[in-house]
Amino acid sequence: ELHRIPHPPHRLPVVGDILGADVRTPVQDSMKLARRLGPIFRRKAFGKEFVFVWGAELAADMADESRFAKHVGLGVANLRPVAGDGLFTAYNHEPNWQLAHDILAPGFSRDAMAGYHPLMLDVARQLTARWDEREAAGLAVDVPGDMTKLTLETIARTGFGHDFGSFERSAPHPFVSAMVGTLSYAQRRNVVPPLLAPLVLRGADRRNDADMAYLNRTVDAVIAARRAETGSESNGMGDLLDRMLQVAHPETGERLTPENIRRQVITFLVAGHETTSGALSFALHYLSRSPKVLARARAEVDEVWGADGEPAYEQVAKLRYLRRVLDESLRLWPTAPGFAREARTDTVLGGEHPMRRGAWALVLATMLHRDPAAWGGHPEEFDPDRFAPSAVRARPAHVFKPFGTGARACIGRQFALHEATLVLGLLLRRYDLHADPGYRLRVAERLTLMPDGLTLRLSRRARAA
Ligand code: HEM
Repeated sequence: ELHRIPHPPHRLPVVGDILGADVRTPVQDSMKLARRLGPIFRRKAFGKEFVFVWGAELAADMADESRFAKHVGLGVANLRPVAGDGLFTAYNHEPNWQLAHDILAPGFSRDAMAGYHPLMLDVARQLTARWDEREAAGLAVDVPGDMTKLTLETIARTGFGHDFGSFERSAPHPFVSAMVGTLSYAQRRNVVPPLLAPLVLRGADRRNDADMAYLNRTVDAVIAARRAETGSESNGMGDLLDRMLQVAHPETGERLTPENIRRQVITFLVAGHETTSGALSFALHYLSRSPKVLARARAEVDEVWGADGEPAYEQVAKLRYLRRVLDESLRLWPTAPGFAREARTDTVLGGEHPMRRGAWALVLATMLHRDPAAWGGHPEEFDPDRFAPSAVRARPAHVFKPFGTGARACIGRQFALHEATLVLGLLLRRYDLHADPGYRLRVAERLTLMPDGLTLRLSRRARAA
């Protein structure tokens, strides 16, 4: 029943709708098409047809868990060689999904989060030490680069007791380069025709094999170190790695296999830092460009946290306005820009588009978050007050989905929000942020979104006597 769904006007035989398409920016290309073609549209590339949905009503319909479920497709499916049946890339029917979900979910409880808080503070201190040096030397900071150091160290230390030493290096850790390599490769696989892939991707294939081998070696070493350390008995209630190694399913008594643990460690190291780094970077971009928003957020930090001393765990969620700043950044640039949903049975999407069981569509969150039907007439404007409680209540449900939806939504949501709010609060309290007046936001894509080339100058805030 695809004929009802609009597509770009100039279709070429074989290749399809690739006129004007740029392999480096599939999401931003799709956003342009969305604006032309409306709330549901299709794109064809090399014989495969993809349906995109972004209208608020249609997206809300796809959030109905009784009729739709996560679809492992496109970029996510391309990550299967690295992440296998790890939590993010597992098919719904794979038993390891439920098993790992039940074993790991308590690792994101309030109590668990409170336990991670001191480690998060440690890592944030490493960041401010570095930024103090840059500030003293009158040098700008590389925002996405430093946010990636911060978020990688945070998930590695809190989840796995591992220190990558990112802040002691000038270049990114090789783990990050290997990860960016596999993510970019997975994105490119979407846009290269299968028949040409062996030819076009030959060099890239080899590099990708090397990247995957590096990721595997790194996590194997992290796991081996923990096994050597804990020996036989431990209460098994420490961090995520302890849970993976030692906790049995509360009902079935089953445990994760060593191969699956390897997949989970890679999954969490990657899913646990890349998107949070982007979220922090976009938020810093908007804060540095919106003096009023920054002043209000900072006044809140000063009031709730005081002028110095380290915030306690409970004090982070009290930064309500700063949290809105983060939400508003994730609205405009949800760093996981979309997610795929498949029909669980034959059904009709939005009362209009029949779908067979197993048929799927991609929800384009970047555009769902800009649908005027949900967000009003100026969706491009950065305005954290959109997330004031009264404004949220006035909006339809299911129109803000930076963390996906349903049973397969992000398990690390609270972790990411706590970490990001904590760090933004610390940075606002410590520095004035000076945007580079010549910078125009450019968004780089590697399955995830990241502001490209964003730098800021800092000055230590004038302190009260
Ligand atoms: C799933 C976004 C942070 C771990 C997801 C999904 C989205 C998402 C959209 C669903 C994907 C789909 O439906 O295919 C984000 C964003 C983050 C973030 C925007 C930061 C701002 C984190 C963190 C962790 C994490 C910090 C771990 C510590 C995961 C895992 C899944 C997931 C394991 C798969 C869950 C499952 O299928 O059971 N995330 N995430 N994420 N995320 Fe996150």
